[in-house]
Amino acid sequence: MSVAPALPLPPPLLDNLGAAQLPVTLVRGQGARVFDDAGRAYWDFYGGHAVTMLGQGHPRWVAAIAAQAAKLSFCTTMTPTPVRDRAATALCAFTGMDVAFFVNSGAEANEAALKIARKATGRPVVVSMVKGFHGRTMGALGVTYKYRDQHEPAHGDVRFVPFGDIQALRDAMGPDVAAVMLEPVQGIAGIVEPPPGYLAAVEAACRQEGALLICDEVQSGIGRAGWPLLSMKEGVRPDIATVGKGLGGGFPVAATLMTEAVAATVQPGEHGTTFGGGPLACAAVEATLNILRDEGLVGRAARLGELLKLELSKIEGVNEVRGGGVWLGLVLDRPAKPIQMALLERGFMCGTSGDPNVLRLCPPAVLPESAIGALAASLQAVLA
Ligand SMILES: Cc1ncc(COP(=O)(O)O)c(C=O)c1O
Repeated sequence: MSVAPALPLPPPLLDNLGAAQLPVTLVRGQGARVFDDAGRAYWDFYGGHAVTMLGQGHPRWVAAIAAQAAKLSFCTTMTPTPVRDRAATALCAFTGMDVAFFVNSGAEANEAALKIARKATGRPVVVSMVKGFHGRTMGALGVTYKYRDQHEPAHGDVRFVPFGDIQALRDAMGPDVAAVMLEPVQGIAGIVEPPPGYLAAVEAACRQEGALLICDEVQSGIGRAGWPLLSMKEGVRPDIATVGKGLGGGFPVAATLMTEAVAATVQPGEHGTTFGGGPLACAAVEATLNILRDEGLVGRAARLGELLKLELSKIEGVNEVRGGGVWLGLVLDRPAKPIQMALLERGFMCGTSGDPNVLRLCPPAVLPESAIGALAASLQAVLA
């Protein structure tokens, strides 16, 4: 009997970061620190792609999820649940929006936003921003400038305009525009801030044209930038806001938030998701929002941001510190990747961005102030 030679097995995990993946294996975390398989500790200045506002393993968050798992671990939106109602009420109170629809990821929240906006207005076009990022599913990718060329043909009827250029936006508006979709500050592009007053001017242009304003606050929202929604800082209330990342404190959950007027255009059964609004996700949302409130973490995020800016902007080789709260872009006078690696060697986990010279910092809001001094000293040493 002949036996066919064994074929090499494919790796079981698709590693979608390739060479960009950091060379450490994390096994544990506590507060603002994470630990690798050799027991080395790192200050987490990246928060898992801007997710962990509460840090790792917050005891109240752990207890809330465990209690919910023991009580009612899963059911879909086919039936109401008290925990989903409480999470939606808390989220709307926190963000000033009227209605929440829970989904599982930022991209999915944006898919829902696009669907709802096009149907609500009966118009096909979405105006979106050059260098913006909204996720990697097909609809979200259609309004995402980055990565779109890897997956042609692009999805949807989308008009791109330069971020921060209000005249270009006005020129792109028309009676066929369903919505303008943008991040209030562009995160993955490198914490790129528009000129003051830009977001309010975009809102006015939308109102004038009868288009909806969709603010993608997946990265900037839920306290990360020192505000429940960053659009609040500009006095803007979007028709639709999407949130994710920090919303569940690390539990995968996101939401499409909308005004009552927008919600009234959505008919029962028009949109849905099996896992969205599940009891564990909603327990995580409720616990996260309660902890943010009880520990004053949104205000703390804002104060940490000021301190970080003060300490880091003094360092030679740091040309500018952009952003606010625990969401900063350090514009270096050289490529950020080697600096990220040198900081990792010294026990600091930081992120990079779409701008090769920008180091992105998104630590949890529970970061102790002492870690800021430690980071500043190490950054100074590696840039010297
Ligand atoms: C602004 C913004 N929108 C949407 C997304 C997509 O979120 P998710 O990765 O949860 O699908 C991201 C992710 O980085 C983001 O930064």
